Amino acid sequence: MTEKSAKLTLPSGEELNLAMYSPSEGNDVIDVSKLVKSGVFTYDPGFMSTAACESKITYIDGSKGILLYRGYPIDELADKCDFMEVAYLLFNGELPNADEKQEFVDCVNNHTMVHEQLATFFRGFRRDAHPMAIMVGVVGALSAFYHDSLDINNPEHRSRSAMRLIAKVPTIAAMCYRYSMGHPFVYPRNEMTYAENFLHQMFSMPSHDKKPDPVLVKAMDRIFTLHADHEQNCSTSTVRLAGSSGANPFACIAAGIASLWGPAHGGANEACLNMLNEIGDVSRIPEFIARAKDKNDPFRLMGFGHRVYKNFDPRAKVMRESAHEVLAATGKKDDPILKVAMELERIALEDPYFIEKKLYPNVDFYSGIILQSIGIPTNMFTVIFALARTVGWVAQWREMISEPTQKIGRPRQLYTGSSERKVKPIESR
Ligand code: SDX
Repeated sequence: MTEKSAKLTLPSGEELNLAMYSPSEGNDVIDVSKLVKSGVFTYDPGFMSTAACESKITYIDGSKGILLYRGYPIDELADKCDFMEVAYLLFNGELPNADEKQEFVDCVNNHTMVHEQLATFFRGFRRDAHPMAIMVGVVGALSAFYHDSLDINNPEHRSRSAMRLIAKVPTIAAMCYRYSMGHPFVYPRNEMTYAENFLHQMFSMPSHDKKPDPVLVKAMDRIFTLHADHEQNCSTSTVRLAGSSGANPFACIAAGIASLWGPAHGGANEACLNMLNEIGDVSRIPEFIARAKDKNDPFRLMGFGHRVYKNFDPRAKVMRESAHEVLAATGKKDDPILKVAMELERIALEDPYFIEKKLYPNVDFYSGIILQSIGIPTNMFTVIFALARTVGWVAQWREMISEPTQKIGRPRQLYTGSSERKVKPIESR
């Protein structure tokens, strides 16, 4: 990083020279870490203008709608690689050759099964429990089973825990669905690809053999790639902050799952499909567009807008193509929900409110349509997002933990509460 500097003059007259660093891509940053010595903090709720860390994993250019994983454009990766190659890339920094890929896949396959006792955790949940509630609990509980790899200062332990998470989260995700349906759990099959294995564990039945449809497997694999990582988003920042205290990786990923669940973040795909189903028909779109624009109505158009993208989310473009492929393959190309989605997208993109506020369809707008047409229930959409994002979370967690200068994250505040005052005895309060 090349070093420049910025001048800051405080009301006291103190003049500060703040170091500035230039990245390989994106905005310069001003190092404000020493400001506290001058008796001031920066103030940036929501971290709109704050770079919380240095990273080499993912780059986003929100104004140009660019998303790079380790420098590779997301649409090229979605088109030319499968999810295991992308997982290897995010985790190790380079795309694998055939031998490296096979070794990685073999390592993942070595960890796809979960401890048989973990299955008993599910029995404690009601059948109608939201699967994200189960995911938070069961993934967090993994640390109770793998005491052999919790020393986060040991690189071998870090890698083994990361591989266990990449391999076991799909198994646990499928178990959440099977439990909600009252179906028996299905063991992973290591001769299958990652996406095929997941669909197998979701939908196969002991009563008859039925291999997952290759078109649906390809769509699932692509959805995993598109959701794998996304810079320092809310859930990734949660994983990094939890990890900065030295918490074990299973607990950190459980924290990331909890954070992703929110409807403003990963919960938007479920909320988006519920919204499309509530709209129901293209004739009702204007009513919902009006509500989204009404300042007095908390309703927002789910699947639209983004903190960083002020242009099309490049993932939404790829997802849009997949949506058409899957709906054609599943005989649902005239699906009324897709018609509502396409018309909603067309109207919103022409509406001055959305144009002025740069609100474009995001990754969650089309993913719900694909997942629904694959037969995945709406309440499992964010589970699928968490499954895919586990790869990004473990890559970001390992990058943070491996930093020699890594320290616990501990933000300060703008305190506007009471100044010190005396406690009065209760009889005189
Ligand atoms: C993800 O960060 C990531 O990278 C996340 C993610 C990832 O891969 O990790 O990309 C995944 O979370 C995608 C986003 C999914 N969320 C949704 O689809 C929910 C709907 N979208 C909004 O809640 C909202 O757009 C956010 C939360 C995504 C972004 O909100 P910001 O950046 O905090 O912007 P804001 O809320 O300040 O909105 C700016 C203006 C406001 O109007 P004004 O107060 O300026 O008048 O735009 C309006 C908002 O009211 N606005 C919307 C809107 N989103 C923003 N109005 C109607 N519908 C919307 N969806």
